Amino acid sequence: MRAIITGVLGAMLMAGAAHAAGPEATPALIEKGKTSFTTNCVPCHGEKGDGTGVAAAALNPKPRNFNTEPFKNGNTPDAVFKTLTTGLPGTVMVAFAHLPEEERWALTHYVLETFGKKAAKKPAKKR
Ligand code: HEC
Repeated sequence: MRAIITGVLGAMLMAGAAHAAGPEATPALIEKGKTSFTTNCVPCHGEKGDGTGVAAAALNPKPRNFNTEPFKNGNTPDAVFKTLTTGLPGTVMVAFAHLPEEERWALTHYVLETFGKKAAKKPAKKR
């Protein structure tokens, strides 16, 4: 009995760990994220991730500057992946769940590697 429980718990932990990590942030995956970002995100977030896309001026709240402001939903890969999957209620940041999971991870790693480095050093605001 104990062995079964240990086994089940172990499997759950491993599944959790695999999800938490997502696919590795390889250069190829990040490049894929860049392509997708250009198509799907630049209109609002801007090429430099600074929130100056052509559509941004009309938005309230406006997209934050990824380079300087902490992500309110957290800046771990898991947190950004979740933001992309569920969107941010109360903003025009919609869910991108229609994009394949791999593409959402690619975007996650692209955003964090390219823009999120400086912001990541600041403590993320808790909501
Ligand atoms: C229609 C405009 C729009 C589009 C398109 C858009 N976003 Fe957003 N996004 C926003 C706004 C507005 C917010 C909320 C303000 C903020 O947190 O920057 C936001 C928030 C975010 C956050 C927030 C984080 C946090 O935790 O505070 C991330 C990450 C993000 N967007 C990534 C993306 C990615 C990647 C794409 C492309 C797949 C995308 N967004 C497409 C407008 C947009």
